[in-house]
Amino acid sequence: MVVALGSDHLAYELKQEIHALLEGMGHTVIDYGVGRVESSDYPVSGRAAAKAVAAGDCERGIVMCGTGVGISLAANKVRGVRCVVCSEPYSAKMARLHNDANMLALGARVVGPELAKMITEVFMTTGFEGGRHVKRVAMLEPEED
Ligand code: RB5
Repeated sequence: MVVALGSDHLAYELKQEIHALLEGMGHTVIDYGVGRVESSDYPVSGRAAAKAVAAGDCERGIVMCGTGVGISLAANKVRGVRCVVCSEPYSAKMARLHNDANMLALGARVVGPELAKMITEVFMTTGFEGGRHVKRVAMLEPEED
């Protein structure tokens, strides 16, 4: 798969770890920023990665900030994106099986790198169950303005 990555400054190191993991799993990674910087605004890289997923340029996206919360909020503002913050693998697995989540958010100040990698592996290797969940996932789309 082609995977979009995005982070703020706090999660830069974690993003490098996740980047290496994904490439090791055979995925192609596109990094939508940030590079190593003192400070940055998580909505910018979160939105950039989410737009790549929504446009179909990337099949999945993984975004990271201090908590994973801010950057997931930014990603979820993009139509077609279903981004979930996960701190353990069970939620990541269920988010794929039942919610067809196409983006994962991780908190670099919440999970250590090894747990983050475990969550990422589950997210990347679990398929959508379909069936009764298709209708519910469709219902997640925002109402027309
Ligand atoms: C940055 O200080 C911090 O607010 C950010 O990384 C993130 O945790 C926001 O949700």
